[in-house]
Amino acid sequence: MNYTTDCLIIGSGAAGLTLALTLAKKAKVIVLSKENVCAGSTNYAQGGIAGVYNIKDDDDSIQAHIKDTCIAGGFLCDEKTVEFVAKNAHDAIQWLIDEGVPFDLKETKVEDEQSPYHLHREGGHSHRRIFHAEDHTGKSIQETLVERARENKNITILENHNAIDLITTHKLGLVGNRVVGAYVLDTTTNHVITINAKFIALCTGGASKVYQYTCNPEVSSGDGIAMAYRAGCRVANMEFNQFHPTTLYCDADRNFLLTEALRGEGAQLKRPDGTRFMQDYDDRLELAPRDIVARAIDHEMKKLGAHCMYLDISFKEPEFVKKHFPTIYERCLKVGIDITKQPIPIVPAAHFTCGGIMVDKKARTDIDGLYAIGECAYTGLHGANRLASNSLLECVVYGKAAAENILKHLDDDEFDTVEIKDWDESQVTNSDEEVIITHNWHELRLTMWDYVGIVRTNKRLERAMHRIEMLKKEVSEYYSNFRVSRNLLELRNLLAVAEIIVKSAMKRHESRGLHYNLDYPNTEEKSGPTILKPNE
Ligand code: FAD
Ligand code: SIN
Repeated sequence: MNYTTDCLIIGSGAAGLTLALTLAKKAKVIVLSKENVCAGSTNYAQGGIAGVYNIKDDDDSIQAHIKDTCIAGGFLCDEKTVEFVAKNAHDAIQWLIDEGVPFDLKETKVEDEQSPYHLHREGGHSHRRIFHAEDHTGKSIQETLVERARENKNITILENHNAIDLITTHKLGLVGNRVVGAYVLDTTTNHVITINAKFIALCTGGASKVYQYTCNPEVSSGDGIAMAYRAGCRVANMEFNQFHPTTLYCDADRNFLLTEALRGEGAQLKRPDGTRFMQDYDDRLELAPRDIVARAIDHEMKKLGAHCMYLDISFKEPEFVKKHFPTIYERCLKVGIDITKQPIPIVPAAHFTCGGIMVDKKARTDIDGLYAIGECAYTGLHGANRLASNSLLECVVYGKAAAENILKHLDDDEFDTVEIKDWDESQVTNSDEEVIITHNWHELRLTMWDYVGIVRTNKRLERAMHRIEMLKKEVSEYYSNFRVSRNLLELRNLLAVAEIIVKSAMKRHESRGLHYNLDYPNTEEKSGPTILKPNE
């Protein structure tokens, strides 16, 4: 079944649902999710959402939030963007509260005008300013926004609908370059449908699944970034892939995140012999920004030939740990680790895509009518390394900014829908060699992990590019001959994103933030974003 709508939102995480709920006051929207509506990274966020909400009860300030973001970002952030986001944090958090997100309250009684909310602290933050719902903030945000969206008759949610590609006037041979719709695979029927829309927003999340080890969910395959790039949008800063320092290391549960808020409450990083090591790397110890902590762990593991390092919070009162970190406590207990009594084995894993589709302050891309919001977008906020808990904030702030802009142009004639031909399957057959897909999936993710990970060299990047070019040829041939499947679509997109990451990494002749190249170990005095244009 084909659809026509005012705005097609591809993605149902914090970015997509903020946009949907704000637009739905006046517009009809369709929200797509590749799996169930809660399948994105938003649902897995633990630490919380950063913001200076009320400065009556401490000495925090918007200026301090801006400064912390720029320092963590290796001074590659766009300062105007940082200011825009930090200044809008109060309203963004208030909006979530008004929608019903149950942020934790302080345990003690507060005086008049003091904020009632309990705040966490995370790496790189000079103050406690992280709003959270225990250690499952993302789940609380996701479930609350889904509930509100389901109640709204202007919002249609289509689960198990996998966007394949954007349709633009340029592709249709018409004048200009405006987005007019998308081809979407309904994975319950295996049919490709057409959705015709005046506006489209890519809210597809990040691309960390390009790496072998990641704490991201299955859906984080960079689809939006690949689709936008294919359609003609610029992308920026894709060499900055954030590795979270502490994910659980254990065969039974390899990708589970251990929130930085644990370190905010004093948890210490230790070698297998129980000694601490962060004092050898940074004065801020365990609360140094993430790039520094992840590199320190990686360095210690390589130096000692160890499979993992350890995170220890066992010195805290067990009741405190269980109350503040119930999800982590239970999950670790399931695999035989009692975090109130013993250190937790940890390794870094791919966590966040700092770069993405280039957008302006209204979330507009290079293509008319096309917006990008959340982890798939590059706004300039994160620079060379994202400050913890700034991502959910970016989703809400830009979701609202995009909605405001779309509503302003909703009735403009130039955004009228146009006729689009159905997807043509006449030249393809069913695949008879699915093994090519699974094999190439594995090869790509391992290549990226080994050659384009925490520490890079020119030679490793060249090797990776060579492998990616070969895999791309095979997959492109496969794509032309066989019916599309979700696996094939994701592999095609991940290959496109992997190529963009390696190209961007090759272009940066310095080490900064998350991009560390042994052949260029120094940081240049001045630097700008790495921008890639399609067909360049
Ligand atoms: P997502 O929430 O990832 O949603 C993506 C959506 O796009 C999904 O609905 C998916 O199904 C859909 N989609 C993707 N491709 C397609 C396609 N082709 N067709 C149709 N639908 C598609 N950030 C913080 O600020 N604070 C935290 O505490 C925090 N903790 C984190 C913990 C973990 C374990 C992880 C993985 C991330 C964490 N982050 C945190 C990062 C943050 O959660 C994400 O950056 C943010 O939630 C991204 O939101 P989003 O809406 O852009 O995308
Ligand atoms: C965490 O809770 O450590 C993740 C926070 C983030 O990625 O912003």
